[in-house]
Amino acid sequence: MPSIGDIYKRFRQRLEGKERATYRLSSGETYFSGKRVGGMWDEIGELQFNFLVKNGLKPRHKLLDIGCGSLRGGVHFVRYLESGNYYGMDRDEMLLNAAREVELPRYGLSGKAASLVRRDDFDFSVFGAEFDYALAQSVFTHLPWNSIMRCLVNVERALQKDGRFYATFFEDKNGGCRIAPMTHAPGGVETYPDKDPFHYEFGVFEELSARVSLEVEYIGEWGHPRGQMMMVFTRPARG
Ligand SMILES: C[S@@+](CC[C@H](N)C(=O)[O-])C[C@H]1O[C@@H](n2cnc3c(N)ncnc32)[C@H](O)[C@@H]1O
Repeated sequence: MPSIGDIYKRFRQRLEGKERATYRLSSGETYFSGKRVGGMWDEIGELQFNFLVKNGLKPRHKLLDIGCGSLRGGVHFVRYLESGNYYGMDRDEMLLNAAREVELPRYGLSGKAASLVRRDDFDFSVFGAEFDYALAQSVFTHLPWNSIMRCLVNVERALQKDGRFYATFFEDKNGGCRIAPMTHAPGGVETYPDKDPFHYEFGVFEELSARVSLEVEYIGEWGHPRGQMMMVFTRPARG
């Protein structure tokens, strides 16, 4: 819960026009301070939650939600997991404020000790926890190769042995040095090899995971309404 001092500071900032807030979240078209933070709130939120539960997530597990946004999936995970087992990181302070001040209270989840941290360097050590599961839903779709590499290096450090990291991506099924945009079905999203939103050949992730001590497996279609594919990185148990 934010302190009275924090709330007062934000109120003053809003009055002074330093922070613009539009608390109209968890709707079909979701905006915060004029920014679209992801439509299909219910559909994509439930999709990621149901997927992880189907793939073994239990209330006792610790979950790292990378690029958690304003908790489109997070509200489902926080409700399901034991208190204190949800950890979300995002680079956008405004979205995290929306999560803390609007979504968690709206869903009656303020007392479940969700940990939310603003960072953009994927340094998950700040949480002081090891994770059974991690998720990056609709995050690698916005990241260049170098940032994905940074993320994977840190995921490898943060996962428990046998831990699993699920990540979505727009797939370039053609490969090679194709530089033309691609359009993905369903949803019709246009993606690029060198600007956001990005597409990648799966082989890029195989090559990256070989650099860290992770294994990656292609899952592919998982019912995403905008045509994003799924893959899973695992940290093999050793010794
Ligand atoms: C399309 S949103 C998806 C949010 C959430 N996973 C969901 O399904 O609603 C992508 C999120 O990734 C976050 N993000 C992008 N780059 C990041 C970085 N380097 N570190 C942390 N978060 C990042 C953005 O701020 C944004 O909230």
